[in-house]
Amino acid sequence: MTKSLNIAHRGFSGKYPENTMIAFKKAVEIGSDGIETDVHMTKDGAIVICHDEKLDRTTNGQGFIKDFTYDEIKKLDAGLKFGERFKGEAIPDIDEFLDYVKDKNILVNIELKNDMIHYKNLEEKVVEKIYEYGMKDKVILSSFNHYAMVKVKDIDISIKTGLLYEAVLYKAEEYAKMVGSDALHPYFPAVMNKTVVDNIKKQGIAINTYTVNEEKDMEKLIQLGIDGIITNYPDVLGKLVR
Ligand code: G3P
Ligand code: MG
Repeated sequence: MTKSLNIAHRGFSGKYPENTMIAFKKAVEIGSDGIETDVHMTKDGAIVICHDEKLDRTTNGQGFIKDFTYDEIKKLDAGLKFGERFKGEAIPDIDEFLDYVKDKNILVNIELKNDMIHYKNLEEKVVEKIYEYGMKDKVILSSFNHYAMVKVKDIDISIKTGLLYEAVLYKAEEYAKMVGSDALHPYFPAVMNKTVVDNIKKQGIAINTYTVNEEKDMEKLIQLGIDGIITNYPDVLGKLVR
């Protein structure tokens, strides 16, 4: 049976401020197999790590990332809203993140957040960074924007891609093959079914599900042979997959 990979969603975001260096470091420390994270682009073309298009929920800034320069973004605090003791955690940029993970034994799933805002050349810039840090074999790119995943394959067919989706798709494996992706990244209820999972796997398409935070769901997905389970609680999942 497939050993499901334990992938920390936005780092170890159940216990640490999401998408910050401390959340990534803690995910590595507890032995996660992978880290999932989200990228956006600043006004001056830098790639920074944050989930939302806007700064408001997770930082002391307000407004859209696309309207701020890199220098302005780096002055913000991304820890304080999660807890006083995380004050001073900055919004990481892609360089800090890749520089940290490059020599760790960990897979990286970078989600391109260009489904709401179509950041110019985000795909090319992220691929360049992956080359710069020698991470090609340890990275899978994913997005809810499937055109972006086609574009990544046009840039370099050997970079792995995954298609994010929520619906219970009919013959998702056929769609994945048509798009040219290596993996499907469904919201987990979409694949809570053995026939659906088996059909996808038979076609050689990997399945990485998000965001699985309840033990009973983790157990069921492990039983189904899901390749990767993306969770806010890699500590809990770690005990089940070990
Ligand atoms: O990549 C899996 C998951 O992160 C997708 O949804 O909104 O948490 O980025 P979201
Ligand atoms: Mg994400």
